[in-house]
Amino acid sequence: MIDRAEALELVRENVDNENLVKHMIAVEAVMRALANKFGEDEELWGVTGLLHDLDYSETVDNFSRHGHRTCEMLEGKLPDEALHAILAHPAHVKAESRFDWALYCCDPVTGLIVAAALMHPSRSLAGLPLKSVKKRFKDKHFAAGANREQMLTCSELGMERDEFLELSLKAMQGAADQLGL
Ligand SMILES: [Fe+2]
Repeated sequence: MIDRAEALELVRENVDNENLVKHMIAVEAVMRALANKFGEDEELWGVTGLLHDLDYSETVDNFSRHGHRTCEMLEGKLPDEALHAILAHPAHVKAESRFDWALYCCDPVTGLIVAAALMHPSRSLAGLPLKSVKKRFKDKHFAAGANREQMLTCSELGMERDEFLELSLKAMQGAADQLGL
């Protein structure tokens, strides 16, 4: 399997949008936390999170190719279960495994938390209280692109919404340096 340093290099080679690179790093952080919570393979889940939008620059105007192209780029570099999760995150295939659901629900939560941090007086993840993230979640007009229904599929992992928001916030606070927030 590709290691973390190689994965990040691949991201840097293929993704020129710095915000998207940060999004992928944020998803990695949440995936690692979820893997730890469930006793799954942290490295596998983390690296898959880091790579999940690898094709974005190429497929931004062609959503039906999003994920498929990433799988082509990563063939032989990640196991099949990871490629399945990557295909399931834009719902091209049905999410089935815990791995699939984890990537599916943590994709949008990172956008909500970044937006909440930017709007918080501290403008930082460290200063962002969970209470504020919960309030932002309930405000449908705030970061409207961050799909709340998709986040709520954390129930497929047996997690309540607030527990999921807390885990995600803590995970991203742990990656604050890399996220520049
Ligand atoms: Fe994503």
